Amino acid sequence: MTSDADDDRGAPGQTSLDVATSEVTGPTGRPLPHFPEPAPLASHGPARVIALCNQKGGVGKTTTTINLGAALAELGRKVLLVDFDPQGALSAGVGVPAHDLETTVYTLLVDRHASTRDAIRPTRIKGMDVLPATIDLSAAEVQLVAEVARENLLARALRPVLDDYDVVLVDCQPSLGLLTVNALTAAHGVVVPLECEYFALRGVALLVETIEKVQDRLNPRLEVDGILATMYDSRTLHSREVVARVVEAFGDDVFHTVIARTVKFPDASAAAEPVTTYASGHPAAASYRQLARELVARGAAA
Ligand SMILES: Nc1ncnc2c1ncn2[C@@H]1O[C@H](COP(=O)(O)OP(=O)(O)O)[C@@H](O)[C@H]1O
Ligand SMILES: [Mg+2]
Repeated sequence: MTSDADDDRGAPGQTSLDVATSEVTGPTGRPLPHFPEPAPLASHGPARVIALCNQKGGVGKTTTTINLGAALAELGRKVLLVDFDPQGALSAGVGVPAHDLETTVYTLLVDRHASTRDAIRPTRIKGMDVLPATIDLSAAEVQLVAEVARENLLARALRPVLDDYDVVLVDCQPSLGLLTVNALTAAHGVVVPLECEYFALRGVALLVETIEKVQDRLNPRLEVDGILATMYDSRTLHSREVVARVVEAFGDDVFHTVIARTVKFPDASAAAEPVTTYASGHPAAASYRQLARELVARGAAA
């Protein structure tokens, strides 16, 4: 029997992570590291802002925003979700339908005297708030074209509340227009969900180009935090092939965590809840908890 002290010493030059990774091959075809539960935070803020971005619809941006946010909140992180899609699916998905609200994210973009704190609503998840959106937001794109510093409006709106949170997740609309450019300008990092289907990589070059332009002209600190494979079906060769191609294209930028396809996600959104509370013991919830730990392990969240 070996003592803990012996275990800690390990082989020369080998960390405990190396040992843990040598065992299992994960769904991305790479050795799967162990992502430990991070220590609780002694204090909160300033937040790291992460944009969830892909100009394709239906790839899991909103689902990832809600469930990653809820999983980070479970870890004691203070989380703000920003609904930045005029469809308002995020707001509805956390039970904060915005149609009767006076102040939304749209108000903050068009009225520089509006208060961000007034627009933020609590969700039923402890430690997780939302900045809701309504269909009004669809007018912003046109309305703001002539505005001074029109790409910086979201960054400016978020500034007063950054110290209140550890992570801000911005759920982008499926386009690369002015709203998405605002999200990328406000962000420290971007997470790109990709659906595991044949055309997953189509359009990604354009997204990468947009990210690079924003880095170049508006926000040099912006990083790609990771590519997330979603709607993965381990039973199909097809899903595994798509993931292999994504890893070939993006290497270590691809999260080790992949999100399986399961009806629990649409079921949870119909119940206006994250899957982490709707079906807390389901593998779907476990996968977003792992993603939260992986994000922290990567240094992309506190
Ligand atoms: N891993 C998944 N498995 C099955 N259905 C999913 C999964 N992730 C998302 N969905 C469902 O797919 C649809 C699109 O997801 P959504 O997160 O709204 O994508 P986006 O925000 O990129 O348009 C929703 O109905 C959602 O419930
Ligand atoms: Mg969406």
